[in-house]
Amino acid sequence: MPELGVNIDHIASIRQIRDSKALSLQQAALICEQAGADSIVVHLREDRRHINDQDVSLLRRSIKTRLNLELSVARDIVDFACKIKPDQATIVPEKRKEVTTEGGLDAVSNFKKIKLACEKLENCGISVSLFIDPEIKQIEAAARLGIKKVELHTGRYADAGNKISRDKFLNQIKTAAQLARKKGLRVFAGHGLDYRNIGPIVKIKDIEELNIGYSIVCRAALFGLKQAVKEMKALL
Ligand code: PXP
Repeated sequence: MPELGVNIDHIASIRQIRDSKALSLQQAALICEQAGADSIVVHLREDRRHINDQDVSLLRRSIKTRLNLELSVARDIVDFACKIKPDQATIVPEKRKEVTTEGGLDAVSNFKKIKLACEKLENCGISVSLFIDPEIKQIEAAARLGIKKVELHTGRYADAGNKISRDKFLNQIKTAAQLARKKGLRVFAGHGLDYRNIGPIVKIKDIEELNIGYSIVCRAALFGLKQAVKEMKALL
């Protein structure tokens, strides 16, 4: 059974609507851990649109499982990671205007820049993972970088409009996971996974950990609503 990393970026997105102190990320992380999360994932974006530097520092101190920090190769963010020392750094591509991480990192075209960031992070004692599309050339580039972990982007599978394309993308993930394992890489996966599409992904034996955010936060908002209304009603 794969482990579960819970991405709490969108708890911070809700907080940012009013820049409120009412929503504690540390408390959110603790609840996730109490519910069985094996790691907590946050993405410190260059534009700091949800998670900010202080969040990461506070989480570093309070998280009892593992802190997986997603980051781009931007020098100041890599330097910040080296200072904070998360248990894992996942290098992701980043575009200012995207709503979420749209695709995997192109480790072939950006090999040198990524290598520099990987070396810096590993020299600081941080284990590095690369978020890549489930493609042979990307796995091969990741293996050439000398890192130990990759996270396969499951977005194309999650967004597939019909069974034929879903099966095609599922097979791509299976093949990529198998190849990555053969090359000695540990394999994680994530993006767009939800309560309906997770089943076939869980069955892929080569995948050790799944990182999931949006669907969990959406479900929490919906199914936590009853309790929240009841508590307010009791105060009226
Ligand atoms: N893994 C990585 C590397 C991501 O960037 C994200 C999105 O922030 C996720 C997993 C989780 O994706 P989702 O929020 O769609 O579950």
